[in-house]
Amino acid sequence: MSESKNLWGGRFTGQADERFAEFNRSFGFDRRLLEVDVRASIAHCEALRRAAVLNDDEAARIKGGLQAILDSAATEAGYLDELPSEDVHSFVEARLVQLIGEAGRKLHTGRSRNDQVATDLRLWLRGEIDRISERVRAAQGALLDLAEAYSTAVLPGYTHLQRAQPVMLAHWCLAYFEMLARDGERLTEVRRRVNVLPLGSAALAGTSYPIERERVAHELGFEQVSRNSLDAASDRDFCVEFTAAGSLIMLHLSRLAEDIIVYATAEFGFFELSDAVATGSSLMPQKKNPDSMELVRGKAGRVFGHLAGLLATLKGLPLAYNKDMQEDKEAVFDTVDTVLAALEVTRTVLGNLRVREERTREAAARGYMNATELADYLARKGTPFRQAHDTVGRIVLHAIERGVELDALPLEEMRAFSAFIEEDVYEALSLDKTLATKAQTGGTAPARVAEALRAARSSLTE
Ligand code: ARG
Repeated sequence: MSESKNLWGGRFTGQADERFAEFNRSFGFDRRLLEVDVRASIAHCEALRRAAVLNDDEAARIKGGLQAILDSAATEAGYLDELPSEDVHSFVEARLVQLIGEAGRKLHTGRSRNDQVATDLRLWLRGEIDRISERVRAAQGALLDLAEAYSTAVLPGYTHLQRAQPVMLAHWCLAYFEMLARDGERLTEVRRRVNVLPLGSAALAGTSYPIERERVAHELGFEQVSRNSLDAASDRDFCVEFTAAGSLIMLHLSRLAEDIIVYATAEFGFFELSDAVATGSSLMPQKKNPDSMELVRGKAGRVFGHLAGLLATLKGLPLAYNKDMQEDKEAVFDTVDTVLAALEVTRTVLGNLRVREERTREAAARGYMNATELADYLARKGTPFRQAHDTVGRIVLHAIERGVELDALPLEEMRAFSAFIEEDVYEALSLDKTLATKAQTGGTAPARVAEALRAARSSLTE
């Protein structure tokens, strides 16, 4: 199929090389911008009419034609492939001229594909950011549901993946809730910088037609108009910021996935994934694999790759627009798709996760995770903490040799290490007490966690 007549006719006498034309084409992926391209074109058409570049009749025909293109794209299979085009912008213009004739050729007055594509991408991304924000909230909701369903469950807390101190399961859920809360804030901030109108910057120098840019911005829901045409026509910071925000979402989901994968092993046995989000093995009949979470973890890598790729693409570009920038779209599109899917799958995993409360409680009560309690106990009785730490270290060593937990050591054996230790030590070493003492803001005391859970819930319904 030959290229439909391209957009720069006059200056050229020769034909484009077929393979170069293919290489140059972005219509295969930027067709996702069709709807926003039409919306932005309708706003531009109105601005041209107000500027008396178009008369009422021309403007009406252009708008009708643009709408008809959208309708056909939605209803006619293959409509987009019938006319080979370089990109979505040339496709729409060619279709428009086909549909309404000469008037269609006036739409591009005072505009360049450079400010057009920047406008389209911002419009499109703004909508997708809203969808992602919604899914971030849904995933946060699933974390709260899990925390509420297991409100009394206890979990061993780890550092270096070694048992450290017990925490409430809800505290663990709320840790991930906080990460996603920051992600939500970040998206709001990125959205603010996405929501700036470049249209009117034209190719690089601004437009010579009296287009009321503020009015166009208002019609398209942009909060501001760009202040410098050179910058606006070639600024892709918003793509970088968005993929950075997406990278952090993926990073958080990946850490959550890793926790879930580890906790679902037979060795830990804390969680069980629903059959709905696991797979079996074609060879080993006993297997239940957490593919859902592994893919979330794995797909984080590709989003980080998009961020690094965009930065590398942009770093050497002279002002203003360069065709390198066409590479922005696949990075942004795939980031959107991947983040949306990862959030959705994570929500489903969380919504169907079974916590084996007896196992987690037993694990939390073992492994000398109350050693810090004993050190604090001695410190409360007047032993300097450094010394208490050392004494308890020796008691732990003794208990390990005896093959028992700290609270199973007879009082006399403990007193051999410190005369401060008395009968009340057993209460101090209990799991309940260990948890309850972490009662400052941000701590894992059950009362604090219950409070934090309520606050999180109301922050989400705001
Ligand atoms: N397809 C192009 C892109 O995505 C549109 C802008 C082309 N502008 C130009 N002057 N060649 O960046």
